[in-house]
Amino acid sequence: MLTDRSEGSLRDRIADQLVASRRRTRALTVDVLDDAELTAQHSPLMSPLVWDFAHVGSQEELWLVRDVGGLEPVRPDLDEIYDAFRYLRRDRVSLPLLGPGEAARYIGEVRDKAMDVLERAPLAGRRLTEGGFVFGMVIQHEQQHSETMLATHQLRGGEPVLSGAEPAAPWAPTAAAEVLVPAGEFVMGTSVEPWALDNERPAHPVSVPAFWIDTVPVRNAAYQAFVDAGGYADPQWWSVAGWAHRQQAGLEAPLFWLRDGDTWQRRRFGRVEPVPADEPVQHVCFYEAEAYARWAGKRLPTEAEWEKAARHDPVTGRSRRYPWGDADPDPGRANLGGARLRPAPAGSFPDGASPYGARQLIGDVWEWTSSDFAGYPGFEAYPYRGYSAAFFGTEYKVLRGGSWATDPVACRGTFRNWDYPIRRQIFAGFRCARDAGPEDL
Ligand code: AVJ
Ligand code: FE
Repeated sequence: MLTDRSEGSLRDRIADQLVASRRRTRALTVDVLDDAELTAQHSPLMSPLVWDFAHVGSQEELWLVRDVGGLEPVRPDLDEIYDAFRYLRRDRVSLPLLGPGEAARYIGEVRDKAMDVLERAPLAGRRLTEGGFVFGMVIQHEQQHSETMLATHQLRGGEPVLSGAEPAAPWAPTAAAEVLVPAGEFVMGTSVEPWALDNERPAHPVSVPAFWIDTVPVRNAAYQAFVDAGGYADPQWWSVAGWAHRQQAGLEAPLFWLRDGDTWQRRRFGRVEPVPADEPVQHVCFYEAEAYARWAGKRLPTEAEWEKAARHDPVTGRSRRYPWGDADPDPGRANLGGARLRPAPAGSFPDGASPYGARQLIGDVWEWTSSDFAGYPGFEAYPYRGYSAAFFGTEYKVLRGGSWATDPVACRGTFRNWDYPIRRQIFAGFRCARDAGPEDL
């Protein structure tokens, strides 16, 4: 994103991204579902889709129309019901939400005003708009909600309404199953990426002991071996909290897997199909990832290990924007953007590999790390505490790298996602790591 510094072209890129994010929002809502489906609660874990639909417009009104534009509020009466901190997802269905038609008119009106604001707002001289930051924040926000809405679609019952495309995913065997990342300092986070969010900042040196990391995410076939070996019945593989959750929730396999004799099927966006052996496993929670890793004689990477494996260039000593370099993502390097409706097979995108030779760090599946979500040294909440700081602590685990459902604009080598360790509806998998021994050095 935004490698071209000229102002006119920055404005054009912002306008294009606003249009693209809205096209995607509509493609997951009013273009494909009727009013009953849009207002229904498909899962207690998720908002009704019509809430997400109006919420993205409400955030755009707050930041672009009112704050940057200095314009009168469009619908101040809506602030409360579309405030994500005010009501739980499962309670939103009983709020006096706008209907789909009203919501479409509301977010359209906000968008018209935001486009006018974009034409005249200075993009330099004020921190909030410097480099187009707050426009980028609003665009990323809408795209994040599209990924959230895809999780709602995946949970929804009934006839399929989404169809995946299958663009080419270049594949080649990996030279090794894991790669060694030698001990040493690297630069974690960023102070220069214009649209990086507060939790990605600032850039700071981190010293990481030597470790091994898998070249690709854990495949369904490998995960199924753990399931079939009785991994869900043996507490030795699970942490204390993980085993308690496994027992209480009755976990037996990844979410959406269905036992079929000796094999497994899965439900994906309303269609049942065999679990593809070579695809990275998804819909496992942090505790399942942790248990698999222990069973395999490994562990999850820390967030710093993940980022060093993904970004550190041992030749120049600097950290890249993406594993392959500083160029924006393209379909030959990563599976992002949501068109496929699934991860690409493990071993895809050799051209997207990091300097150490790890692949698929960007796209395909979010990867659970062993780290709690916390601010980096020198962290400053910006532009509001509610984006990240409100979630810092030991309750949330960090996920890295984006999934097939993440738009490229909302994905970078520094991007940090977080969720509760019990969550499985997100498009998350993992890769394993292990300590390097003296024999490796
Ligand atoms: C970064 C995905 C954890 O969905 O809670 C959306 C993004 N923040 N609206 C979330 C977000 C406010 C956030 N995650
Ligand atoms: Fe939101």
